Amino acid sequence: MKNPTVSIVIPTYNEKENISRIIEMLRKSLRGVEHEIVFVDDNSPDGTSCEIKNFIKNSSKIHLIHRVGRRGLSGAIIEGIFAARSDLVAVMDCDLQHDETKLRDMLDLFYKDASLDIVIGSRFTADGEISINAFSKIRKLGSKVTTFLIKKLLRIKSTDPLSGFFMVKRESFLKKSDKLQTQGFKVLADFLATSGTSIEIKEVGYSFKNRVAGESKMSFLTALELIGLVLSQILNGRVSIKFILFCMVGLSGIFVQLLITGLAMLLTNQFPTSQTVGIIAAMTSNYFLNNIITFKERKLKSLDLIRGLFSFYLICSLGAFTNIAIATYVFYFSYNWLISSFIGACIGAVWNFTLTSIFTWKS
Ligand code: GDD
Ligand code: MN
Repeated sequence: MKNPTVSIVIPTYNEKENISRIIEMLRKSLRGVEHEIVFVDDNSPDGTSCEIKNFIKNSSKIHLIHRVGRRGLSGAIIEGIFAARSDLVAVMDCDLQHDETKLRDMLDLFYKDASLDIVIGSRFTADGEISINAFSKIRKLGSKVTTFLIKKLLRIKSTDPLSGFFMVKRESFLKKSDKLQTQGFKVLADFLATSGTSIEIKEVGYSFKNRVAGESKMSFLTALELIGLVLSQILNGRVSIKFILFCMVGLSGIFVQLLITGLAMLLTNQFPTSQTVGIIAAMTSNYFLNNIITFKERKLKSLDLIRGLFSFYLICSLGAFTNIAIATYVFYFSYNWLISSFIGACIGAVWNFTLTSIFTWKS
Protein backbone atom coordinates (compact mmCIF):
# COMPACT_ATOMS: atom_id res chain seq x y z
CA MET A 1 0.00 0.00 0.00
CA LYS A 2 1.25 3.48 -0.90
CA ASN A 3 2.23 5.66 2.05
CA PRO A 4 0.07 8.74 2.64
CA THR A 5 1.50 12.23 2.00
CA VAL A 6 1.02 13.35 5.56
CA SER A 7 0.20 11.74 8.93
CA ILE A 8 -1.66 13.76 11.52
CA VAL A 9 -0.73 12.70 15.05
CA ILE A 10 -3.35 13.65 17.63
CA PRO A 11 -2.66 12.91 21.31
CA THR A 12 -5.86 12.47 23.32
CA TYR A 13 -6.80 12.37 26.95
CA ASN A 14 -10.51 12.67 27.75
CA GLU A 15 -11.47 14.10 24.37
CA LYS A 16 -14.45 11.88 23.55
CA GLU A 17 -16.66 14.76 22.47
CA ASN A 18 -14.06 16.22 20.11
CA ILE A 19 -13.26 13.07 18.10
CA SER A 20 -16.03 13.27 15.51
CA ARG A 21 -15.49 17.00 15.10
CA ILE A 22 -11.75 16.82 14.46
CA ILE A 23 -12.14 13.92 12.03
CA GLU A 24 -14.74 15.88 10.07
CA MET A 25 -12.68 19.10 10.08
CA LEU A 26 -9.58 17.24 8.86
CA ARG A 27 -11.59 15.46 6.18
CA LYS A 28 -12.73 18.83 4.85
CA SER A 29 -9.44 20.67 5.04
CA LEU A 30 -7.34 17.81 3.63
CA ARG A 31 -9.67 16.91 0.74
CA GLY A 32 -7.47 15.69 -2.13
CA VAL A 33 -4.43 15.12 0.08
CA GLU A 34 -3.56 11.49 0.90
CA HIS A 35 -3.44 11.41 4.69
CA GLU A 36 -3.82 9.26 7.79
CA ILE A 37 -4.81 10.22 11.32
CA VAL A 38 -2.95 8.59 14.22
CA PHE A 39 -4.66 9.06 17.57
CA VAL A 40 -2.55 8.30 20.65
CA ASP A 41 -4.80 7.76 23.65
CA ASP A 42 -3.59 7.10 27.20
CA ASN A 43 -6.54 4.92 28.14
CA SER A 44 -8.77 7.96 28.82
CA PRO A 45 -11.37 7.16 31.47
CA ASP A 46 -14.11 8.92 29.45
CA GLY A 47 -13.92 6.24 26.73
CA THR A 48 -12.16 8.29 24.04
CA SER A 49 -10.59 5.13 22.61
CA CYS A 50 -14.01 3.45 22.08
CA GLU A 51 -15.18 6.55 20.25
CA ILE A 52 -12.10 6.44 18.00
CA LYS A 53 -12.64 2.72 17.32
CA ASN A 54 -16.15 3.51 16.03
CA PHE A 55 -14.55 5.62 13.30
CA ILE A 56 -11.77 3.11 12.58
CA LYS A 57 -14.45 0.56 11.56
CA ASN A 58 -15.39 2.73 8.60
CA SER A 59 -12.08 4.24 7.61
CA SER A 60 -8.69 2.81 6.83
CA LYS A 61 -7.23 6.30 7.25
CA ILE A 62 -7.71 6.36 11.02
CA HIS A 63 -5.44 4.56 13.47
CA LEU A 64 -5.22 4.31 17.23
CA ILE A 65 -2.32 3.71 19.57
CA HIS A 66 -3.92 2.79 22.87
CA ARG A 67 -1.40 3.14 25.71
CA VAL A 68 -2.13 1.51 29.04
CA GLY A 69 -0.38 2.38 32.31
CA ARG A 70 1.36 5.38 30.78
CA ARG A 71 0.64 9.09 30.77
CA GLY A 72 2.28 12.09 29.20
CA LEU A 73 1.80 14.33 26.21
CA SER A 74 5.42 14.37 24.99
CA GLY A 75 5.73 10.56 25.13
CA ALA A 76 2.40 10.16 23.33
CA ILE A 77 3.53 12.47 20.51
CA ILE A 78 6.89 10.70 20.14
CA GLU A 79 5.15 7.33 19.87
CA GLY A 80 2.68 8.70 17.36
CA ILE A 81 5.48 10.02 15.16
CA PHE A 82 7.26 6.66 15.34
CA ALA A 83 4.11 4.89 14.21
CA ALA A 84 3.27 7.34 11.40
CA ARG A 85 3.71 6.02 7.86
CA SER A 86 4.33 9.27 5.94
CA ASP A 87 7.52 11.26 5.56
CA LEU A 88 5.74 14.34 6.87
CA VAL A 89 3.98 14.31 10.23
CA ALA A 90 1.76 17.00 11.70
CA VAL A 91 0.97 17.19 15.40
CA MET A 92 -2.08 18.96 16.77
CA ASP A 93 -4.48 19.13 19.74
CA CYS A 94 -7.72 17.20 19.52
CA ASP A 95 -9.83 20.10 20.80
CA LEU A 96 -9.79 22.19 17.57
CA GLN A 97 -7.70 24.96 19.14
CA HIS A 98 -5.16 24.62 16.35
CA ASP A 99 -6.19 25.77 12.88
CA GLU A 100 -6.43 22.67 10.66
CA THR A 101 -6.74 24.84 7.52
CA LYS A 102 -3.07 25.79 7.99
CA LEU A 103 -1.96 22.21 7.31
CA ARG A 104 -2.08 22.91 3.58
CA ASP A 105 0.13 26.00 3.98
CA MET A 106 2.57 23.86 5.95
CA LEU A 107 2.59 21.22 3.21
CA ASP A 108 3.18 23.90 0.56
CA LEU A 109 6.23 25.15 2.44
CA PHE A 110 7.68 21.64 2.42
CA TYR A 111 6.96 21.29 -1.32
CA LYS A 112 8.71 24.59 -2.06
CA ASP A 113 11.75 23.89 0.09
CA ALA A 114 13.03 20.32 0.27
CA SER A 115 15.68 21.16 2.88
CA LEU A 116 13.09 22.24 5.43
CA ASP A 117 12.86 20.12 8.61
CA ILE A 118 9.93 21.65 10.47
CA VAL A 119 7.10 24.15 10.08
CA ILE A 120 5.78 25.53 13.35
CA GLY A 121 2.26 26.84 13.79
CA SER A 122 2.91 30.07 15.70
CA ARG A 123 0.67 32.32 17.79
CA PHE A 124 3.31 35.03 17.88
CA THR A 125 3.98 35.96 14.23
CA ALA A 126 2.44 39.02 12.52
CA ASP A 127 -0.55 36.95 11.37
CA GLY A 128 -0.72 34.71 14.44
CA GLU A 129 -2.71 35.38 17.62
CA ILE A 130 -4.34 33.94 20.70
CA SER A 131 -8.01 34.66 20.15
CA ILE A 132 -9.69 36.73 22.86
CA ASN A 133 -11.58 34.01 24.69
CA ALA A 134 -9.03 31.18 24.28
CA PHE A 135 -6.94 32.03 27.34
CA SER A 136 -7.58 33.97 30.52
CA LYS A 137 -5.55 37.23 30.75
CA ILE A 138 -3.27 35.54 33.27
CA ARG A 139 -2.55 32.50 31.07
CA LYS A 140 -1.95 34.77 28.06
CA LEU A 141 0.62 36.80 29.97
CA GLY A 142 2.12 33.62 31.45
CA SER A 143 2.40 32.16 27.97
CA LYS A 144 4.21 35.25 26.62
CA VAL A 145 6.65 35.48 29.52
CA THR A 146 7.40 31.74 29.45
CA THR A 147 7.94 31.81 25.68
CA PHE A 148 10.39 34.70 26.08
CA LEU A 149 12.33 32.91 28.83
CA ILE A 150 12.44 29.58 27.00
CA LYS A 151 13.76 31.24 23.84
CA LYS A 152 16.54 32.95 25.80
CA LEU A 153 17.47 30.03 28.06
CA LEU A 154 17.45 27.34 25.37
CA ARG A 155 18.69 29.61 22.55
CA ILE A 156 15.72 28.82 20.32
CA LYS A 157 14.99 30.95 17.27
CA SER A 158 11.30 30.08 16.77
CA THR A 159 8.69 32.66 17.87
CA ASP A 160 6.56 29.91 19.47
CA PRO A 161 8.68 27.07 20.88
CA LEU A 162 5.85 26.07 23.24
CA SER A 163 3.43 25.48 20.39
CA GLY A 164 1.64 22.16 20.24
CA PHE A 165 0.99 22.58 16.49
CA PHE A 166 3.70 21.75 13.95
CA MET A 167 4.58 19.66 10.90
CA VAL A 168 7.92 17.90 10.85
CA LYS A 169 9.91 15.69 8.52
CA ARG A 170 9.61 12.33 10.22
CA GLU A 171 13.24 11.42 9.62
CA SER A 172 14.55 14.70 11.09
CA PHE A 173 12.47 14.16 14.22
CA LEU A 174 13.37 10.50 14.69
CA LYS A 175 17.07 11.30 14.40
CA LYS A 176 16.75 13.14 17.72
CA SER A 177 14.17 10.88 19.31
CA ASP A 178 16.52 9.04 21.67
CA LYS A 179 17.53 12.39 23.20
CA LEU A 180 13.97 13.62 23.76
CA GLN A 181 12.18 13.36 27.09
CA THR A 182 8.91 11.47 27.23
CA GLN A 183 7.82 13.24 30.40
CA GLY A 184 6.22 16.66 30.12
CA PHE A 185 4.11 18.73 27.76
CA LYS A 186 6.61 20.50 25.53
CA VAL A 187 8.16 18.10 23.06
CA LEU A 188 8.59 20.84 20.44
CA ALA A 189 10.77 22.97 22.74
CA ASP A 190 12.76 19.84 23.58
CA PHE A 191 13.23 19.01 19.89
CA LEU A 192 14.23 22.58 18.96
CA ALA A 193 16.69 22.89 21.84
CA THR A 194 18.18 19.46 21.13
CA SER A 195 18.55 20.19 17.41
CA GLY A 196 20.05 23.69 17.79
CA THR A 197 21.10 25.15 14.45
CA SER A 198 21.20 21.78 12.69
CA ILE A 199 17.60 22.06 11.47
CA GLU A 200 15.79 24.40 9.12
CA ILE A 201 12.64 25.98 10.53
CA LYS A 202 9.77 27.96 9.01
CA GLU A 203 6.62 29.25 10.67
CA VAL A 204 2.99 29.71 9.80
CA GLY A 205 0.94 32.15 11.88
CA TYR A 206 -2.45 30.94 13.12
CA SER A 207 -5.15 31.99 15.51
CA PHE A 208 -5.20 29.84 18.66
CA LYS A 209 -8.88 29.29 19.33
CA ASN A 210 -11.00 28.41 22.33
CA ARG A 211 -11.24 24.72 23.24
CA VAL A 212 -14.46 23.24 21.79
CA ALA A 213 -15.33 20.68 24.50
CA GLY A 214 -13.60 19.13 27.52
CA GLU A 215 -10.91 20.65 29.72
CA SER A 216 -7.28 21.68 29.30
CA LYS A 217 -4.76 19.27 30.83
CA MET A 218 -2.29 22.07 31.43
CA SER A 219 -1.62 22.44 35.16
CA PHE A 220 0.81 23.61 37.81
CA LEU A 221 2.55 20.28 37.27
CA THR A 222 3.05 21.08 33.58
CA ALA A 223 4.90 24.23 34.66
CA LEU A 224 7.14 22.20 37.01
CA GLU A 225 7.87 19.73 34.20
CA LEU A 226 8.82 22.65 31.95
CA ILE A 227 11.31 23.89 34.57
CA GLY A 228 12.62 20.30 34.67
CA LEU A 229 12.99 20.32 30.88
CA VAL A 230 14.94 23.60 30.91
CA LEU A 231 17.33 22.37 33.62
CA SER A 232 17.74 19.05 31.85
CA GLN A 233 18.60 20.87 28.59
CA ILE A 234 21.02 23.20 30.39
CA LEU A 235 22.74 20.08 31.79
CA ASN A 236 22.96 18.74 28.22
CA GLY A 237 20.35 16.05 28.84
CA ARG A 238 22.56 14.26 31.40
CA VAL A 239 19.75 14.07 33.93
CA SER A 240 16.09 13.31 33.31
CA ILE A 241 13.13 15.57 34.07
CA LYS A 242 12.05 12.93 36.58
CA PHE A 243 15.29 13.15 38.56
CA ILE A 244 15.06 16.96 38.57
CA LEU A 245 11.48 16.80 39.89
CA PHE A 246 12.66 14.35 42.57
CA CYS A 247 15.40 16.83 43.62
CA MET A 248 12.92 19.75 43.67
CA VAL A 249 10.71 17.74 46.01
CA GLY A 250 13.81 16.94 48.09
CA LEU A 251 14.56 20.67 48.39
CA SER A 252 11.02 21.34 49.58
CA GLY A 253 11.67 18.66 52.24
CA ILE A 254 14.43 20.82 53.77
CA PHE A 255 11.87 23.56 54.42
CA VAL A 256 9.38 21.10 55.87
CA GLN A 257 12.06 19.71 58.16
CA LEU A 258 13.11 23.17 59.43
CA LEU A 259 9.50 24.22 59.94
CA ILE A 260 8.43 21.10 61.83
CA THR A 261 11.63 20.88 63.88
CA GLY A 262 11.11 24.55 64.84
CA LEU A 263 7.50 23.95 65.86
CA ALA A 264 8.43 20.85 67.84
CA MET A 265 11.16 22.82 69.62
CA LEU A 266 8.59 25.41 70.63
CA LEU A 267 6.41 22.66 72.07
CA THR A 268 8.98 20.31 73.66
CA ASN A 269 12.29 22.16 73.77
CA GLN A 270 13.93 18.74 73.18
CA PHE A 271 16.28 18.88 70.20
CA PRO A 272 16.79 15.18 69.37
CA THR A 273 13.04 14.52 69.54
CA SER A 274 12.22 17.66 67.52
CA GLN A 275 14.83 16.83 64.88
CA THR A 276 13.47 13.27 64.58
CA VAL A 277 9.91 14.55 64.19
CA GLY A 278 11.17 17.07 61.59
CA ILE A 279 12.92 14.37 59.57
CA ILE A 280 9.90 12.06 59.60
CA ALA A 281 7.66 14.97 58.53
CA ALA A 282 10.04 15.83 55.67
CA MET A 283 10.23 12.21 54.46
CA THR A 284 6.44 11.94 54.62
CA SER A 285 5.83 15.14 52.67
CA ASN A 286 8.52 14.13 50.15
CA TYR A 287 6.75 10.81 49.66
CA PHE A 288 3.33 12.30 49.01
CA LEU A 289 4.70 15.04 46.74
CA ASN A 290 6.71 12.53 44.70
CA ASN A 291 3.61 10.39 44.41
CA ILE A 292 1.62 13.19 42.76
CA ILE A 293 4.43 15.02 40.92
CA THR A 294 7.47 12.90 40.07
CA PHE A 295 5.72 9.56 39.66
CA LYS A 296 2.26 10.81 38.77
CA GLU A 297 1.77 8.26 36.00
CA ARG A 298 2.39 5.46 38.55
CA LYS A 299 0.54 7.17 41.40
CA LEU A 300 0.01 4.76 44.34
CA LYS A 301 -3.44 4.54 45.89
CA SER A 302 -5.16 3.01 48.96
CA LEU A 303 -3.20 0.05 50.44
CA ASP A 304 -0.33 0.49 47.98
CA LEU A 305 -0.02 4.08 49.19
CA ILE A 306 0.68 2.88 52.74
CA ARG A 307 3.00 0.07 51.65
CA GLY A 308 4.85 2.58 49.46
CA LEU A 309 5.27 5.00 52.38
CA PHE A 310 7.10 2.39 54.45
CA SER A 311 9.35 1.31 51.58
CA PHE A 312 10.12 5.02 51.00
CA TYR A 313 11.04 5.49 54.69
CA LEU A 314 13.28 2.43 54.55
CA ILE A 315 15.08 3.35 51.32
CA CYS A 316 15.59 6.98 52.37
CA SER A 317 16.95 5.91 55.78
CA LEU A 318 19.48 3.66 54.05
CA GLY A 319 20.15 6.61 51.71
CA ALA A 320 21.06 8.72 54.73
CA PHE A 321 23.60 6.09 55.84
CA THR A 322 25.08 5.98 52.33
CA ASN A 323 25.22 9.77 52.35
CA ILE A 324 27.12 9.82 55.69
CA ALA A 325 29.48 7.00 54.65
CA ILE A 326 30.42 8.62 51.31
CA ALA A 327 30.73 12.13 52.79
CA THR A 328 33.01 10.81 55.56
CA TYR A 329 35.15 8.97 53.01
CA VAL A 330 35.51 12.08 50.82
CA PHE A 331 36.27 14.21 53.87
CA TYR A 332 39.09 11.83 54.77
CA PHE A 333 40.85 12.82 51.52
CA SER A 334 39.71 16.39 50.98
CA TYR A 335 39.35 17.89 54.47
CA ASN A 336 36.68 20.09 52.91
CA TRP A 337 33.35 19.71 54.73
CA LEU A 338 31.37 21.57 52.07
CA ILE A 339 32.51 19.44 49.13
CA SER A 340 32.23 16.24 51.19
CA SER A 341 28.75 17.05 52.40
CA PHE A 342 27.61 18.06 48.90
CA ILE A 343 28.92 14.87 47.31
CA GLY A 344 27.27 12.84 50.10
CA ALA A 345 23.95 14.62 49.43
CA CYS A 346 24.21 14.01 45.66
CA ILE A 347 24.93 10.30 46.08
CA GLY A 348 22.14 10.09 48.66
CA ALA A 349 19.71 11.68 46.17
CA VAL A 350 20.74 9.29 43.38
CA TRP A 351 20.38 6.34 45.77
CA ASN A 352 16.92 7.42 46.92
CA PHE A 353 15.78 8.14 43.38
CA THR A 354 17.04 4.92 41.86
CA LEU A 355 15.80 2.61 44.57
CA THR A 356 12.42 4.26 45.10
CA SER A 357 11.84 4.21 41.31
CA ILE A 358 12.44 0.48 41.35
CA PHE A 359 10.87 -0.61 44.63
CA THR A 360 8.41 2.07 45.77
CA TRP A 361 6.96 3.14 42.43
CA LYS A 362 7.95 -0.08 40.61
CA SER A 363 9.23 1.00 37.22
N1 GDD B 1 -2.14 10.80 25.06
C1 GDD B 1 -2.15 11.88 25.84
N2 GDD B 1 -1.61 11.79 27.11
N3 GDD B 1 -2.67 13.03 25.39
C2 GDD B 1 -2.67 14.10 26.23
C3 GDD B 1 -2.13 14.08 27.53
C4 GDD B 1 -1.59 12.83 27.99
O1 GDD B 1 -1.11 12.70 29.11
N4 GDD B 1 -2.29 15.30 28.09
C5 GDD B 1 -2.90 16.06 27.15
N5 GDD B 1 -3.14 15.35 26.04
C6 GDD B 1 -3.78 15.79 24.77
C7 GDD B 1 -5.08 16.51 24.96
O2 GDD B 1 -6.17 15.61 24.93
C8 GDD B 1 -5.08 17.45 23.75
O3 GDD B 1 -5.55 16.82 22.59
C9 GDD B 1 -3.61 17.79 23.60
O4 GDD B 1 -2.90 16.71 24.19
C10 GDD B 1 -3.18 19.10 24.26
O5 GDD B 1 -3.68 19.15 25.58
P1 GDD B 1 -4.57 20.39 26.06
O6 GDD B 1 -5.10 20.07 27.40
O7 GDD B 1 -5.55 20.75 25.01
O8 GDD B 1 -3.45 21.50 26.22
P2 GDD B 1 -3.61 23.07 26.04
O9 GDD B 1 -4.61 23.43 25.00
O10 GDD B 1 -3.77 23.68 27.38
O11 GDD B 1 -2.17 23.43 25.46
C11 GDD B 1 -1.91 23.07 24.11
O12 GDD B 1 -1.71 24.14 23.26
C12 GDD B 1 -0.60 24.94 23.61
C13 GDD B 1 -0.43 26.04 22.59
O13 GDD B 1 -0.26 25.53 21.28
C14 GDD B 1 -0.75 22.13 24.04
O14 GDD B 1 -0.62 21.64 22.71
C15 GDD B 1 0.48 22.84 24.46
O15 GDD B 1 1.59 21.99 24.26
C16 GDD B 1 0.64 24.11 23.63
O16 GDD B 1 1.64 24.91 24.20
MN1 MN C 1 -5.74 22.26 23.67
